[in-house]
Amino acid sequence: MSENTELENLELKVNGVSYPLALEIDRNLSGVLRTEVGLTGTKEGCDDCECGACMVLLDGQPINSCSYLAVQAQGRDITTVEGLIDGDELHPLQRNILAAGGVQCGFCTPGMLMSAQALLERNDSPTEDEIRIGLSGNLCRCTGYAKIVTAVQATAVELRS
Ligand code: FES
Ligand code: FES
Repeated sequence: MSENTELENLELKVNGVSYPLALEIDRNLSGVLRTEVGLTGTKEGCDDCECGACMVLLDGQPINSCSYLAVQAQGRDITTVEGLIDGDELHPLQRNILAAGGVQCGFCTPGMLMSAQALLERNDSPTEDEIRIGLSGNLCRCTGYAKIVTAVQATAVELRS
């Protein structure tokens, strides 16, 4: 719980939906997304910009939302892992990471998907090295990364075809 009791009225736009909120000004974005907005796909791991579990897109750019103030996100487009899904249809990245066995405990997966999505938005044919660099801000303790890289490669091929 924050010690700062000053409240700021603001509106956050998350996955295309506007959420009017009254927040303490020192609240980080990841906590607000999980608690006030109610989207718990975004995870909080290290809370110190190290693990990438809290990665979301801000105007299409990946950021560690644990280290970003919610008030700074006002007026920007925030995309969380919940925003990847299209109705009942999983995003190709979600389908392919499951198919490749790239999800074990799953804690890193939402952040990993957001970094992969940002990578594929700027580069539709990434090399393996480019994928590994694109995901270098996301730590995974379970998979050894190879299956996640395979999933991103498969998604790139699928999206190009
Ligand atoms: S929880 Fe944000 S980088 Fe680890
Ligand atoms: S699947 Fe467990 S940390 Fe990545």
